[in-house]
Amino acid sequence: MLQTQMLVDEAIEALQSQIDDTAIIACSGGIDSSVAAVLAHRAVGSLLHCVYVDTGFMRKGETEDVVAMFADMGIELKVVDASERFFRNLEGVTEPEAKRHVIGEQFIRVFEEEQAVCGAKYLVQGTIAPDWIESGGGNRDVIKSHHNVGGLPEDVNLTIVEPLREFYKDEVRQIARELKLESSERQPFPGPGLAVRVLGDLTPERVEACREACHIVETHLQAAAAAGKCDLPWQYFAALLPVRSVGVHGDARVHGETVVVRAVSSLDGMSARYSPIPHEVLTEISTEISNTLKGQVNRVVYDITNKPPGTIEWE
Ligand code: XMP
Repeated sequence: MLQTQMLVDEAIEALQSQIDDTAIIACSGGIDSSVAAVLAHRAVGSLLHCVYVDTGFMRKGETEDVVAMFADMGIELKVVDASERFFRNLEGVTEPEAKRHVIGEQFIRVFEEEQAVCGAKYLVQGTIAPDWIESGGGNRDVIKSHHNVGGLPEDVNLTIVEPLREFYKDEVRQIARELKLESSERQPFPGPGLAVRVLGDLTPERVEACREACHIVETHLQAAAAAGKCDLPWQYFAALLPVRSVGVHGDARVHGETVVVRAVSSLDGMSARYSPIPHEVLTEISTEISNTLKGQVNRVVYDITNKPPGTIEWE
């Protein structure tokens, strides 16, 4: 604890020496950006402008939850609804790396517009060690471009400040607990959000289907863990695959897409083991997804891949 407090104090001091003018930060409500925001807010107070960008790829109820969390912490948060522009720029983009680059670029463009409003010179980001390690640094191969690293356009006109750059997820969680952050126990959620859980075309309808499926997985697993049926996995969600298979609805044979249920245990996201969800819980999840997304999804599958060789997300 004492050691974590020292890390917090050092991070605040470092931020004070780096930021001498208005700074802006994208707050997704996730643990990384929330920790970065609280540290920066403690370091420079009202010089920091916190912005929540609704990309259209957020989880169910997420925007309302994040707004309430920041209000509780006494930190002002501006909500920007940029969903229309994200969907427009991602139209027809299906290649995973291309998606990440478009998302990274749109984030920065939204930020430049906000910068023009508040006159920010600095951009604080919640980048953590695995983000840049997996994005390829030095002699490392690119595993994937995390949206807040590889997607950054070269002409960005803000000085980037990354207070969590050297930390791994478990360390950031320790700091979040020390800061008494509500998001300290939340499961990780990727910066590009549901965009990397909807494989293929990012249409509003497909994203909505993934949002519902993720919500169903989350609700059932949290209830199962609370009832002592299984441990709550480190991360658990659904992804929508553009794989169409045949199903039956009444007398008709119809084609629908596939939802994959993913749940893993991990320490820091660098490696992971798939979580053994009890069959009874899987059955409930499958039934509710099939009923809710009738006509759109007709197959639910369960991912039993560890990392490596797989990754946690599907893109
Ligand atoms: P993978 O899928 O690489 O994910 O095994 C490891 C952890 O990182 C999260 N993740 C991301 N986080 N931007 C982020 O901020 C991203 O582009 C991104 N991609 C994956 C993932 O949810 C898991 O917790």
